[in-house]
Amino acid sequence: MTIRMETMQGLHRTHGCGTISEQEVGKEVVLCGWVERRRDHGGLIFLDLRDRSGVVQVVASPDHNVESFHKAEDVRNEYVLCVRGKITKRDEAAINPNLPTGAYEMFCEELRVLNSAKTPPFYIQDDIDVDENIRLKYRYLDLRRPEMQRNLILRHKVTKAMRDFFDSRDFLEIETPMLTKSTPEGARDYLVPSRVNAGTFYALPQSPQIFKQILMVAGYEKYFQIVRCFRDEDLRADRQPEFTQLDLEMSFVDEEDIYSMLEEMIAHVFKTTLGKEIPLSMPRITWDEAMDKYGSDKPDLRFDMAFTDVTDLVKDTEFKVFRSVIDNGGVVKGIVVPGDAGIPRRELDDLVEYVNRYGAKGLAWACFNEDGSIKSQIMKFLGEDTIRNIGEKMGAKGGDLVLMIADKPATVARALGELRLEMARRMNMIDQDKLAFTWVTDFPMFEYNEDEKRYVAMHHPFTMPRHEDLDKLESDPGSVKAIAYDMVLNGVEIGGGSLRIYQSDVQEKVFKAIGLSEEEAKSKFGFMLDAFQYGAPPHAGCAFGLDRLVMLMAKRQSIRDVIAFPKTQSASDIMSQAPSEVEPKQLKELHIKPDIEEEEEQSLV
Ligand code: AMO
Ligand code: AMP
Repeated sequence: MTIRMETMQGLHRTHGCGTISEQEVGKEVVLCGWVERRRDHGGLIFLDLRDRSGVVQVVASPDHNVESFHKAEDVRNEYVLCVRGKITKRDEAAINPNLPTGAYEMFCEELRVLNSAKTPPFYIQDDIDVDENIRLKYRYLDLRRPEMQRNLILRHKVTKAMRDFFDSRDFLEIETPMLTKSTPEGARDYLVPSRVNAGTFYALPQSPQIFKQILMVAGYEKYFQIVRCFRDEDLRADRQPEFTQLDLEMSFVDEEDIYSMLEEMIAHVFKTTLGKEIPLSMPRITWDEAMDKYGSDKPDLRFDMAFTDVTDLVKDTEFKVFRSVIDNGGVVKGIVVPGDAGIPRRELDDLVEYVNRYGAKGLAWACFNEDGSIKSQIMKFLGEDTIRNIGEKMGAKGGDLVLMIADKPATVARALGELRLEMARRMNMIDQDKLAFTWVTDFPMFEYNEDEKRYVAMHHPFTMPRHEDLDKLESDPGSVKAIAYDMVLNGVEIGGGSLRIYQSDVQEKVFKAIGLSEEEAKSKFGFMLDAFQYGAPPHAGCAFGLDRLVMLMAKRQSIRDVIAFPKTQSASDIMSQAPSEVEPKQLKELHIKPDIEEEEEQSLV
């Protein structure tokens, strides 16, 4: 039978499905929503009706209304209904403890089918095992799932809490342009061709960095914005080509003011959205210490397993592998994996392969058994005494496993850092309910870019070098530290910022250190340098990755789960099929002649 579609005319929704409670018992209500499930028990048809507020059971029975019963026989999953009827209490035995409205049901007096639906490609429920591309293609169905709804509702609450917080602290939310000149943040720009200025392009902002600094020159003192940013970079689980920042900037402050303001902001957001108390004073670790102890500038501090440097203990041994590494400026560092001395041999081989992926040439291991004996593949090279000394320095106890890597410091940091994370996962050492915040401070001002054979700014070139390092800008730029900081949560960089340069002589020196001539600096950010000549106040700021923060708050593994319409790993939108080709006419108007056309033309010649 074909179902006749009906309208809502004359019926007004009175309640959300999920809001039905004791108060409604005995009352007539009108509900609207989607059919989550239909069970036909012969004489009775049960429909689980879902809307944004939740699910409630609707019962169609010929005793109540014959017409509704017959219509209910034909409805299918995801049909859109409007139903009218009385709420009753279920019998004790029929109560569903897993449903917030599980003690009640509605007996249908009137049922209208507002729309039919095709059979969905997957169930609209949590815990589905469906390829993510299918979820993204049918995102409107995916977003109907309670889990996705919870994520987006949380996201809404988080941005509301942020706005309330900054408003209460006298900040102004000010919008900055989307069609702009590129900001020097290091990633590739998304370009937008100009129709009226042939051959020129806007860049979509990688961040509002320059504009927010100019707002400080303009005297706005406290700015924030929840703002979309665009970066054409290789995508990963925590990176999207367009993402959202909570961006802010303050005048007449130093880094301590920024730390305390942002610690309070985070505490407010967690308290109002998740009811969680976050201590107001977050731990801090310098970049040097983070790299030295955890091999990462975003250490996961939910567990310890810090590195110990044992170079000293092995530098005089005859073991060629370690000796040659050390003689060439390398180091030997290790970690203690508590209680893993009984690790099977094939798992150790597996770990060797694991560290190979991160550039380490090998992995040395020593099992400190409960009975005091030691097993190690390098025992014959180092001797038992040295291995015992290593264990002692590392604090290894009976039953523990020691893993060591010898290599250049950067390779040890990377490979041992990844191994530390992997061992914590394998040994279940990560408390999923823990929130380990930390500030990482004193970043290097510059890093050396091997491809370009020059120094580049690690944060951005408007970052203030540490006062005591100003003299070294010319003589030893590699050793200059910046007043730059990141906020890290559970091993994810959720925010970063810095104190800014506001004196032109310091700015000039920094440009010089990154090989930028006066003319280049002028052509790239002349407008900003001009602005800075008209009374720039000391200022500092920070930007948070909103998607990353909400991802961690929602305990998800990917920021795609907290973005309504994200892009895939190849930066495309499977649902709308963006990016797509455009009409030749559009290209002509924009004065653009694609390369592909030229190639085709050439092949015709
Ligand atoms: P930064 O480049 O560190 O700093 O960016 C700030 C924060 O934005 C998040 N983030 C991203 N999130 C998702 N996808 C991406 N592709 C992506 N890239 C960055 C991160 C990061 O910590 N203007 C400076 C801030 C300042 O100095 O005030 C800036 O943009 O969580
Ligand atoms: P080899 O003499 O190369 O066979 O190495 C002896 C042992 O030391 C092997 O078990 C290797 O896994 C280990 N090893 C080799 N290179 C390294 C390294 N760079 N760091 C730690 N262990 C290593």
